Amino acid sequence: MKKRILYISSVIIILVGTISYFSLSTKTSNNTNEYIAITPIATHINGMDFIDSATCVECHAQIVEDHYKTAHFNSLQTANKNTIKGSFDKNKNTLKLNNKVTFNFIKKDSGFYQEPVFNNQNTPFYSAKMDIVVGSGTKGQSYLMWNNNNLLQLQASYFTPTDSWINSPGAPDQLAPARPVLERCLECHTTYAQNITGDKNSNQFHKKNFVYGIDCQRCHGPVKKHLVYHKQNPTDKIAKHIIKYSSLSRQQRLDACALCHSGLRTETTERAFSFAIGDTLKKFSFPDYDESSLKDLDVHGNQYGLLKASKCFTNSNSLDCTTCHNPHKKERGNISSFNQKCMDCHTSLSKPINCSGDNNEIKKMGNNCIQCHMPLVKSETMKIQISKNEEISVDVRTHLIGIYNLKNN
Ligand code: HEC
Ligand code: HEC
Ligand code: HEC
Ligand code: HEC
Ligand code: HEC
Ligand code: HEC
Ligand code: HEC
Repeated sequence: MKKRILYISSVIIILVGTISYFSLSTKTSNNTNEYIAITPIATHINGMDFIDSATCVECHAQIVEDHYKTAHFNSLQTANKNTIKGSFDKNKNTLKLNNKVTFNFIKKDSGFYQEPVFNNQNTPFYSAKMDIVVGSGTKGQSYLMWNNNNLLQLQASYFTPTDSWINSPGAPDQLAPARPVLERCLECHTTYAQNITGDKNSNQFHKKNFVYGIDCQRCHGPVKKHLVYHKQNPTDKIAKHIIKYSSLSRQQRLDACALCHSGLRTETTERAFSFAIGDTLKKFSFPDYDESSLKDLDVHGNQYGLLKASKCFTNSNSLDCTTCHNPHKKERGNISSFNQKCMDCHTSLSKPINCSGDNNEIKKMGNNCIQCHMPLVKSETMKIQISKNEEISVDVRTHLIGIYNLKNN
């Protein structure tokens, strides 16, 4: 009896198996001519595969080409002679830290090094290889090194306003040990890094499971299914299997940028790299500052907080970052295109633009709305001390759009 049941059920299994095999193969043979192999460059701990953005060229050539030039894509790179902005030329390759210690910046066959030397000694105190560059170099750069799997931030950085090597902002003016780099730091500057221990205070990362720079998937989420589908269905011009920004709420669109552009935040329960496009940021972290106090919002890194306090934002129900910014393009300096964005909206408002009394001045400035209404402001956090009473800070475009008395500046 038992044997018969076993026999019957195995026949059924074989039958079902055969039928489903045939139905599957006829289904797929309609639209699959070839097997599509896609090798991920890394895998998120949540299972999402990261695909090299070179794979997108086939269908999004212009976006990829533009994207490679952006500050986002170049925000974290391997260190080499093209990516390090600091100089290794004679006369420019030293940094006097204090009366006792001088850093030398040395190029060797094996790479680029920072070597602090005490005045009374011939050999450097240590020789640290710069492995990773943080910062496209618009305002400055910081350098990281690997010590086995430990990621550390080196003491000497580069500052663009002075085009020179500097002591890292916040570091003491004495020789200090390299600082551990935690996942929070990487979260804003790169697409993915996986912490080995799972402890957010550990600086050990998987070197191989690391996606450098802010790439497509940092803003667009999973793409593998999208890629396979469109390769198999080249005539379908409607995007499939990808999250669409056009279907997100205004707050979701803002949060996709605010993740990194709303200043320093404290995480709640979630870990770094867990926020994804479409999520609500406040479920993941909250600001480290008083949101309602404009004084607490620095122009460096907090475009979201400042924009949110502007009348253009509060009196419109659609304004978000992409109203003015094309996230795929390097647009820095293209002021006429930004001015056009102000005009596009303001000429459509019932209230006419009324920069009263300043008409001649406005003409003289070539209608440069931004210069008067989004002026450059000195950052309170991104600055260096060059002598006892002299500081240099980076100038950042404020996102508090408003009326300024520029004569005071
Ligand atoms: C074989 C072709 C193909 C490849 C390869 C491809 N895509 Fe697409 N993708 C499309 C098509 C077709 C659309 C719809 C038309 C459009 O928006 O360009 C689209 C649209 C998109 C959209 C817009 C979604 C929306 O409507 O908001 C995103 C984002 C996107 N693709 C990302 C990527 C990324 C990232 C890659 C590389 C990992 C990639 N695609 C590779 C064909 C492709
Ligand atoms: C993963 C974090 C992250 C996200 C998400 C992000 N940014 Fe950024 N963004 C940065 C960092 C870091 C820089 C500075 C890069 C550098 O110069 O090294 C930057 C720089 C910029 C710049 C200055 C570009 C330049 O030429 O100097 C603009 C504009 C910008 N982001 C807009 C946006 C917008 C709009 C969004 C949302 C669509 C967005 N960002 C999302 C981290 C992010
Ligand atoms: C909350 C997100 C966030 C965190 C955390 C963060 N940064 Fe940034 N960082 C930014 C943004 C955004 C910019 C550029 C935009 C700006 O100046 O407003 C930037 C700019 C920089 C720049 C200048 C880049 C350039 O080319 O101008 C350097 C260097 C830098 N960050 C290093 C670091 C290091 C090192 C850490 C970790 C110890 C770190 N940042 C942590 C968001 C962040
Ligand atoms: C800093 C975040 C960011 C990065 C990085 C990014 N995108 Fe986008 N992308 C966006 C946003 C935001 C939109 C929606 C823009 C809008 O609605 O105005 C968008 C729209 C798109 C679209 C549809 C609209 C269009 O412009 O054709 C495609 C296709 C696309 N992205 C592909 C890519 C590809 C491919 C990459 C990598 C090479 C990439 N994106 C990198 C933020 C980003
Ligand atoms: C999406 C539409 C939109 C865009 C884009 C926009 N604005 Fe506005 N802006 C508004 C609205 C709405 C108001 C409020 C008007 C009112 O008071 O009724 C406003 C107010 C202002 C004010 C008065 C602010 C105050 O505090 O009294 C200035 C100045 C201004 N905008 C300049 C600009 C400039 C410069 C740009 C481009 C960088 C710009 N706007 C882009 C919609 C916009
Ligand atoms: C009303 C138009 C407008 C909106 C909306 C807007 N920006 Fe900007 N943004 C600008 C202009 C103009 C600049 C200056 C560009 C330049 O210097 O070439 C700028 C510059 C920046 C920079 C570089 C700042 C610097 O001086 O280095 C960052 C980062 C940035 N924007 C991020 C954002 C983010 C994130 C949002 C959304 C929260 C946003 N922007 C919304 C107009 C806008
Ligand atoms: C030379 C500096 C300057 C330039 C350039 C400039 N503005 Fe103004 N704008 C002002 C001043 C000053 C005021 C305040 C006038 C007042 O309150 O009488 C103002 C007021 C405004 C207002 C508020 C008007 C109201 O009635 O509330 C808007 C909107 C505005 N400007 C938009 C723009 C736009 C758009 C551009 C670019 C086409 C621009 N401005 C160029 C200096 C300038």
